[in-house]
Parts: sequence; structure tokens; C-alpha cells
Amino acid sequence: MKYDFDRIIDRSGTNSVKWDKDFLKEHFKTDDVLPLWVADMDFQCPQPVIDALKKRASQEIYGYSWYKTPTYLNAVSNWMKRRHGWEIDNEWIIFSPGIVPAIYMLVQTFTNVGEKVIVQPPVYYPFFSAIENNGRVLLANQLHYENQRYTFDFDDFEVKAKDPLTKMFILCSPHNPVGRVWTEKELKKLGDICLENDILIISDEIHHDLILSGYKHTLFSTISKEFENNTIMCTAPSKTFNIAGLKTSNIIIPDEKKRESFSNTISKRNSVMSPNAFGIVALIAAYNEGEEWLDQVLKYIEANFEFLKNFIKENLPNIDFIDPEGTYLAWLDCNRLGMDDEKLSDFMLTKAKVALDDGKIFGPGGEGFERINVGCPQSILKECMNRIFNVLCGT
Ligand SMILES: Cc1ncc(COP(=O)(O)O)c(C=O)c1O
Repeated sequence: MKYDFDRIIDRSGTNSVKWDKDFLKEHFKTDDVLPLWVADMDFQCPQPVIDALKKRASQEIYGYSWYKTPTYLNAVSNWMKRRHGWEIDNEWIIFSPGIVPAIYMLVQTFTNVGEKVIVQPPVYYPFFSAIENNGRVLLANQLHYENQRYTFDFDDFEVKAKDPLTKMFILCSPHNPVGRVWTEKELKKLGDICLENDILIISDEIHHDLILSGYKHTLFSTISKEFENNTIMCTAPSKTFNIAGLKTSNIIIPDEKKRESFSNTISKRNSVMSPNAFGIVALIAAYNEGEEWLDQVLKYIEANFEFLKNFIKENLPNIDFIDPEGTYLAWLDCNRLGMDDEKLSDFMLTKAKVALDDGKIFGPGGEGFERINVGCPQSILKECMNRIFNVLCGT
């Protein structure tokens, strides 16, 4: 079927974090804003997902659920094989009600208080709290930024990896917020340094299906058998198919000992046992029947990025658009506007009346940037950009 992603769907009254007025007021201190912030999309979900959920809802009983069925596990492993070329054993899959809680528990399982964990800011900020709230030490291997392009700083990474207290590296691939789809060569170099220094890799690949044309995502674990055994891969259908509220993700751990340790933390120490009944149904429908939707949504996202790039080029010469390679998150360098972070944030919220994610929340290197979620009908994105243009250019 042909999806109409221009259609505006009213999300009010659905407890949406992105749109709910009370939440906006609490989070941004104003609800008079057009929201293009948190990473979910304003598009209809794949029809097979909607149909499967309606069918499940009509069954009328929503008791405790279980995920270790061939249908669920095969949906995950077939997706990994079909879309990403990774053959996995169904036993490697461990359900988690989210990647963020899983990362917290991975930090608790595989590091001790006082040990060090490398992250690469500007990066998805819950990585910081997963480390620091658990009493571990955060090592910031800041991405290198030059000519509006991001690369890894391998020299600094190696210095940090050699520290005997460093035990873990949390990779974001593709990278939120800078939009890089890392090449196999780049990833291999990082992975080799980790192997040499006995550092466990947590590879958060939640955005792995959102790849723009011309780019190829490499699953970290597919690079070599050694990498596979030294990597814990975090994956989910939540970003791919816009079902983040269903809280269903999977942690894939090929190494048996590591898998046992994590299973022990998640089920025995934290009692995470029973997945959301609707999440299971949605995952199966999405992975088995959602590809047609995904192919169409990717084209729409690309068109939105193209619109945004051109709008900025033509109207906002003091903002630099960072060319994205994946995700639906645009990363704008606003440093040449000459505002400090407080002023930039206030400008977006109270003058332009748009709710974006301020770059500074993504840590060092995020200062002076704004992240815009383009996973919305183009008319909403246009309205957002017109608001910014009108106040900046005084019309
Ligand atoms: C890199 C990354 N990891 C994890 C998440 C959230 O994962 P979950 O909702 O499964 O906790 C996000 C959401 O934006 C993300 O960008």
C-alpha cells in the first residue's frame, strides 16, 4: 500500500511526551511551542502493525506475556539476517523493555564502581547517566569535527583505552545526534583497539535501519568473530517502525558467559521478566511485514532532509546543516548566530516557539548546536523553519 506521510495525525490526548501540553510545560517551561524534539515520528505506523495490535486488542485479555517463542525470536533473527546479513542464534536474544534500561544494567553487570567507560560525545545523553548514576567514571572521547563533518579521534581513544581502569566502550552506531553512519574501516579500527585492551563493546544500534541512500550500515558484530564475541548489541524495532511507546527491545549477546551474566542481572537481580503484550505483537508484525512501510518512510525522511538543507542554504546563512547519513535527526551548527547556549535555547523556545533538543545536552562538542527531528509531515517541518526564519530575519 501507499502511505500518506503528509497526513497530520492529532496526537493530543495520547500522553505523548512529544506533544502533551502538560509535559511540554514541565519539560520546557512553556507549552506554546511546535515540538520537533524527542526521537519518535509523527507518522502512521505500518498497517500490518496496526492490524496486529487491533487483532490482539480484540482478544479482550491482556495478561502476562512471554517472548521466548519461535515466532518472536525468528522475527528478530530473520530481520538481522535479511536486512543486516548477520546470522544469529535465537538463544543469543534477550528481551529488554528498552535499550536505555539495558545499558544501565550492562554497566552494572560488566564494570565495577570506580571503573571507566568510554563514550563519544556529542552523543545520546542517557549514556552519561548510565555511567555516572552507577558510580562509574565517564571518559569522553569527543568526536572530531572539521568542515561540518564528524570522525573518530582514534589517538585519544587509544590513550583512554589503555587506562587499566577502562573496561567498557558504549558505541552509538549510527550516531545520534551527528547522523554519521560509521564505515566498516572506522569501526574496525575502534574494535581492534578494544580487543587489544580487553574492553567490552556495547553497541547501541537502535538507528541501524534508518540509513539514507548511498550509505551502508555495518553491524559491529559482523566485522569478525572476535568482534562478535566482544560485543553486546542493542537493537529494537522502536525507532525503525515508530513504536517506541511499546517498550520492546532486544539485547543480542553471542558469548555464553556474558549472556549468563546479563541474564542474571536483568531477570534475577531486577526481575525484568514479562514483556509488554502489545510490544511482542507489534515487533512480530513489524519485522515480518513492515519493510514496505520502511522503504517508503526512508524516502520521505530523505525528502525532509533535502527540504531542510535547501531552506537553510537559501534563508539561514549563519546556520550550518550537517549532512546526515542516517537517522531522522538533523544536527544544526548554530554557532555562527553568536548566541551562547542559554540564549540559543531561549531563542528557539520563546521567540521562534519551537521545541528542539539543545546541542549542549549531548555533552562536550554539542554547544551551539540544535537537533531537529524531521520525522514529521513536511508541513510541520516547514512551519518550524518559517518560525525560526521569521524571528531571525525580523518579519
Ligand atoms: C542511540 C539511542 N539509544 C537508545 C534510545 C532509546 O531507547 P529505548 O527507548 O529503547 O530505551 C534512543 C532514543 O532516542 C537513542 O537515540
